[in-house]
Amino acid sequence: MAVASTTPRDPNTLSNYNNWRSTHVTANFDILFDQKKLVGNVVHKFKSTTEAQSREIILDTSYLDIGDIKVDGQPSKWEFLPAVAPYGTPLKIVLDKPVELNGTVEVDIAVKTTDKCTALQWLTPAQTSNKKHPYMFSQCQAIHARSIFPCQDTPDVKSTFDFNITSPLPVMTSGLPIRQSSMTSQSGNKLYRFHQSVPIPSYLFAIASGDVSEAPIGPRSVVATSPDKLDECKWELEADTENFINTIEKIVYPYVWGEYNVLILPPSFPYGGMENPIFTFATPSIISKDRENVDVIAHELAHSWSGNLVTNCSWEHFWLNEGWTVYLERRILAAVHGEAYRHFSSIIGWKALKDSVEHFGEDHEFTKLITDLKGKDPDDAFSSIPYEKGFNFLFHIENLVGKPKFDKFIPHYFTTFKCKSLDSYEFKATILDFFQSDAEASKLLNELDWDKWFYAPGLPPKPVFDTSMVDVVYALAKKWESLPDSSFKPQASDLEGLAANQILVFLEQILLWEKPLTPELSKLMGEVYGLSKSSNIEVANLYLQVGMKAGDESVIEPTTELLGRIGRMKFVRPLFRNLQKINRPVALETFEKYKDFYHPICRGMVEKDLFGKK
Ligand code: BES
Ligand code: ZN
Repeated sequence: MAVASTTPRDPNTLSNYNNWRSTHVTANFDILFDQKKLVGNVVHKFKSTTEAQSREIILDTSYLDIGDIKVDGQPSKWEFLPAVAPYGTPLKIVLDKPVELNGTVEVDIAVKTTDKCTALQWLTPAQTSNKKHPYMFSQCQAIHARSIFPCQDTPDVKSTFDFNITSPLPVMTSGLPIRQSSMTSQSGNKLYRFHQSVPIPSYLFAIASGDVSEAPIGPRSVVATSPDKLDECKWELEADTENFINTIEKIVYPYVWGEYNVLILPPSFPYGGMENPIFTFATPSIISKDRENVDVIAHELAHSWSGNLVTNCSWEHFWLNEGWTVYLERRILAAVHGEAYRHFSSIIGWKALKDSVEHFGEDHEFTKLITDLKGKDPDDAFSSIPYEKGFNFLFHIENLVGKPKFDKFIPHYFTTFKCKSLDSYEFKATILDFFQSDAEASKLLNELDWDKWFYAPGLPPKPVFDTSMVDVVYALAKKWESLPDSSFKPQASDLEGLAANQILVFLEQILLWEKPLTPELSKLMGEVYGLSKSSNIEVANLYLQVGMKAGDESVIEPTTELLGRIGRMKFVRPLFRNLQKINRPVALETFEKYKDFYHPICRGMVEKDLFGKK
């Protein structure tokens, strides 16, 4: 049990969460589209976790407008402590009387968000798909929840939630809807109520509201999106969603959250997907009309176990969330498409890992599995490394002990830490303990160089992957490499029978060459294969990268066009980085033109990339 003076294990919160735990949150908000604000109050039920009888509750906030605060119904004193960048402004609430260990207090805080809120994006009707209504959505991971409401903004604390939200438009949150006869508030808005009975960390708090309708994509799933996009979104997801859920339930254990729904957001959503409970939030760029990007859904679904039930206790142990999720995602894909596909996906992942290590430099702190984030912004550390180094670590252990044995460990791990948060050392202790009675596995695990895996920067050892799905595209890339000296004549039929993901691997191969493609050949490739116009945005994006690396000026225009069409950071950041290399004025002009279209998180990251701003 934590005591008052211990240092919290999460360095990215200013809250004194070692003394208090928020066990339940009631969030009452009016969505004010005209003011671009959430206005309401948040009630925390805090439990004291210290014998020292702390009289202060310190919460994370970031650019919040705070009104009256009541403690157990009585007006209370509070103050802001000095701001600490990049973590925000701590809010100190002073209690009249001390609270004994395990005693509880209820703290009710009146709060309004401000225009500096980093978690919310407010869209005008013109920025939405059918241009009829405004739209708003949240993105709280990693440490943006504090810009919506005062909280212990750490994944080490989990609370149950009630959401009471009024809006003129449909509302989705990370709770299950309490379906009831509709209630209308004074303003004429409807009250939407939700409850989340599984304790969740603050970063899984989610809210969205806009003109959306829903269609079923499985017995426990709907897709929600703009009415004019509903049919295509339904088609994209209905073939796989329930199949994925059934598959992972056999690998781990049954899904506990009730419904698994997907909200397809407007194009400025900054991530591919976000595993908000009940409603995965996803970018419209996964709706590629070929069902080739549903691995994002497998990934976000897998978070329902890794991350949402079993959670990293701080962003320093982020691999426990993402590495495990990539591992489970690839197990789902293997069960559906065969083991060769798991290896295919891992090869793509290895390339992303190599790129990230190159980007940071092979000795960089952020290339470690466990990162030191003291004083750092977790968004700055974000990369493929926790995903892919984490996956490779688990894959390595799977190979070490053998798949049948590792399969038994999976449900054990997810049962042991269900509804809890953990660090990497608890993971290690748990797996060593699990295999203790198995002499052979135990020996291998004890011989494993844990410290090297945890703390060595750079690439881990490369496993042997089954290359059967990449060999054909490697061969095609070789033919291109032989140009212009060979007699190879590129034809549209070269790509016949290839999955979009194989085309991606082909393009990645081209990007790997030391000597880039000539501008002429790059252009020829785009024309013959119809790449820049691909409705699969992953393909279009990589082709533009190939073109830019080749110095083919004709890709500049389609690049700026794409940058105005999608706000997903995975595409936006590398496209801007490369665009500024070949034409910085165009990059700056394009950013100026679209910066209001981007989500505040994306806007901030691109500003850092282009101007080195803090
Ligand atoms: N949880 C992440 C997104 C995230 C991470 C948001 C850190 C904010 C901070 C989500 O599960 C994710 O990994 N999304 C990926 C998709 C995926 C298939 C790897 C993405 O957005 O590209
Ligand atoms: Zn993830």
